[in-house]
Amino acid sequence: MTVSAQVSGDTRKVGATTTKAEDFVPPYPFRYEKMPPVWSLIGMAKRNFLSIWGVDDFQSRLRSKKIFTRELVICNRPDVVREAFQTNHEVLQRKSPQMRHALQPLLGDGLFISDTETWAKRRKVVAPIIHGSRVRGFAPIMIETIEEKRADWAVQGEGAEVDALADMAHLTAEIICRTIFGRQLGKDYAAEVVQGFSDYQRHIDQIDILSLFGLPEWLPRFRGRAIKKPVERIMTVLDKIIASYEAQKESGETSVIGGLLEARDENGEPLSRDAIISEAAVIFMAGHETTANTLAWAWFLLSQCDKSRAKLQAELDTVLAGRSPTFQDVPNLPYTKAVIEETLRLYPPVPILAREAMADTSIGGKSVPKGSLVMVVPWLMHRNPVLWSKPDVFDPGRFLNPKSKKPNKYGYVPFSIGPRICAGLQFGMTEAILSLAILAQDFELKLKEGTDVQPVARLTLRPGENLPMTLHPRRT
Ligand code: HEM
Repeated sequence: MTVSAQVSGDTRKVGATTTKAEDFVPPYPFRYEKMPPVWSLIGMAKRNFLSIWGVDDFQSRLRSKKIFTRELVICNRPDVVREAFQTNHEVLQRKSPQMRHALQPLLGDGLFISDTETWAKRRKVVAPIIHGSRVRGFAPIMIETIEEKRADWAVQGEGAEVDALADMAHLTAEIICRTIFGRQLGKDYAAEVVQGFSDYQRHIDQIDILSLFGLPEWLPRFRGRAIKKPVERIMTVLDKIIASYEAQKESGETSVIGGLLEARDENGEPLSRDAIISEAAVIFMAGHETTANTLAWAWFLLSQCDKSRAKLQAELDTVLAGRSPTFQDVPNLPYTKAVIEETLRLYPPVPILAREAMADTSIGGKSVPKGSLVMVVPWLMHRNPVLWSKPDVFDPGRFLNPKSKKPNKYGYVPFSIGPRICAGLQFGMTEAILSLAILAQDFELKLKEGTDVQPVARLTLRPGENLPMTLHPRRT
């Protein structure tokens, strides 16, 4: 097998854009010129949702396709994204039936999949608990956990093989567990929580084909019984953790569960136990794999691009001069941030944002009937050649260079946009910057020879099932 990342040694055509000799073009699936039949597209979608797009889809502004009875509308330019997710939020706030069916057994009426009144109420309570202004309070837990990972890598020594994807998943799960439940309970229960969620995900990690066909909501989905066990397991653990928290809550440290227990709505009412469990599950689910995938991709991209890796190391060595970063250092690490931003552009962890129209509406002058699926596909828009120069090239510098061609905030949406924008945006960015800074300061990661890395999307976009890399300490 060969490494599929393409480092171009000459001038080549990628999509509609020409790339230069030293440009690094990381892997992406084949893009067809002529659309295959629908049944074949559905088969492709089931295996990898990224492979169903043709060259024209990347360049488009607004497209619609009919899949059996359901109208699919794809918004791929800032003006129509704004119209769909901001202006038309009231009508387009409902998540797709695929997403709701996949996550409802676990998240109940949790913020991530609820809408209208329930969503508005929960957003008001949950968002402030993980808001940017609270991240300073969570930073010590993040840094401590990342430093444990660094120590763990240090004992493994030169050339040790790690699965960077699993390692980053472990790191971000530990961080989110300790943030939600507090240092000690987070440590005690992390393994159990992670196991429950990954069991669950194994069962739902596929496209809900019934819903794509537009079949009615009441029709039973096949996996109902299989996911009952992991759901029960997660609920039992969360209940146990909350009970332990209540028994020892005087520790005074910042934790999400403390925030949820103390939260009151506008009538002074606390959240019910079920609501607290649902929202804790939402934050764990939304906040761990996304950041883990981002970091895994960043390691892969840096391993293939000497120029960017050297720039990152130079920034870390100059700004930090050998000490660990603190929360205050984050704004002084612009290149580290740009690496994360460029990683999120090329490999957005949530590659598709889909909504169901709750009433007839219109976007870009096109009428959108009730029941249509309206999609913003970061995977497409972040590589739209009309919006970006050399869209398939890995170039963190584009986020720092004011002259680089970049769209407005509706054209770069790794965290979504509009009222349903990721409630953990600052948390996730800070966590990713600190993780990369602390680990890349001391280690270089090389891709294991012969590894074929390809992006695969089911619920989130990952570099396959694992990412074998070797560890190389930078300082002795
Ligand atoms: C790099 C890391 C992250 C990325 C790329 C990311 C991305 C996203 C995206 C795209 C959505 C909207 C999904 C949709 O519309 O279908 C979302 C929602 C959400 N995210 Fe994040 N996220 C990240 C980290 C986090 C973290 C660390 C937390 C919590 C601490 C978090 C909490 C949430 C919540 C609660 C929602 C639901 C918001 C709502 O529906 O109102 N996320 N995230």
